[in-house]
Amino acid sequence: MKTRIYKSEDLNKKEVQEDIKNTLLSGRNVIFPTETVYGIGAYALSEKGIKGIYEVKGRPSDNPLIMHISNNTDIYKYTCDHQAYVEDLIQAFWPGPLTLVLKKKAQVPYIITGGLETVGVRMPSHPIALKVLDISDIPICAPSANISGKPSSTLFEHVLEDFKDRVDIMIDGGKSQVGIESTVLDVTAKIPVILRPGVITKEMLETVVPQVIGGKIHTSDDIPKAPGMKYRHYAPKGDLMVVDGNIDQVISYITKQINTTDSKNQIGVICTTDLKEAFTGAFVYSIGEPNQEEEIASNLFAALRAMDKANIETIYAIAFHEGKYKDALMNRLMKAANQQIIKL
Ligand code: TXA
Ligand code: MG
Repeated sequence: MKTRIYKSEDLNKKEVQEDIKNTLLSGRNVIFPTETVYGIGAYALSEKGIKGIYEVKGRPSDNPLIMHISNNTDIYKYTCDHQAYVEDLIQAFWPGPLTLVLKKKAQVPYIITGGLETVGVRMPSHPIALKVLDISDIPICAPSANISGKPSSTLFEHVLEDFKDRVDIMIDGGKSQVGIESTVLDVTAKIPVILRPGVITKEMLETVVPQVIGGKIHTSDDIPKAPGMKYRHYAPKGDLMVVDGNIDQVISYITKQINTTDSKNQIGVICTTDLKEAFTGAFVYSIGEPNQEEEIASNLFAALRAMDKANIETIYAIAFHEGKYKDALMNRLMKAANQQIIKL
């Protein structure tokens, strides 16, 4: 298979629009950017298309998919038994990085939901994602466009690395603005529950609904989770450890590791820009100024992938305890590190 690659401006061409629509309708896959991460899409009601996603990603089939829509009222077509606050959440946060988990209607196939009675739905805000949905005029299931277990794709080159010539179409949207997957919120009960933290935080949700459960999911032993959260995720090939302590302790701990490692094993460090000169001899990837959490979030997965590219076998990442994205960042980092944390 040879992948057809399109850019944003190509989406105005009639023949490209036809190609995208026909590809999806015939049960094949299209990778497109969203504001969070790239998604690998299939027509939600095509068993062939959905199977294709699981196959090409190597994804366990009990891990449900998010259904993407471009018109917020479509949520009522595919889901039922809505709590009154659901519409308020939609008005406040859609389009955007919030997935709502609701009771599914019969027409939503179990192959999407991993056998569950609920389905996750979101309306993305990225113009290319919305355009793909509008051109095709169908609901599109799209998990993150990465080989299962690897970090999600936030740059087009990540998508090429994982799927070139393995899917029919890829659309290049440059760098993902948010860089961390959507907040997944179970809204089936009176009090909503965060199943996966994201940049729409508990505090933000609580400006709309009085109480929200969850959000601080740092370790594997917390509250109910999205089924997908039980799998190893976001993992670089090297051994990643999160180092948690005050800055001086962190610098001295990592420096000691750099100085004592054997010469063949270059240490990798993921840190904020203020620390980038602190680790001489290491492969350092700085992901943003300490107070720039948007920037940090958007660069995290690229940092993990860069470690793989440089064949780094031992990686240290600093912990994040400040700012509104700390739960989302630590959730991804701890998963990537397989829960390995060094507390100083
Ligand atoms: O930002 C995003 O959400 C991206 C972009 C492409 O939209 N998509 C994404 O999909 O991250 P995926 O498949 O990688 O992650 C979906 C998460 C998984 O953890 C899954 O278990 C959870 O959502 N999920 C989906 N449907 C669910 C359901 N019915 N109940 C509970 N969790 C669900
Ligand atoms: Mg994923």
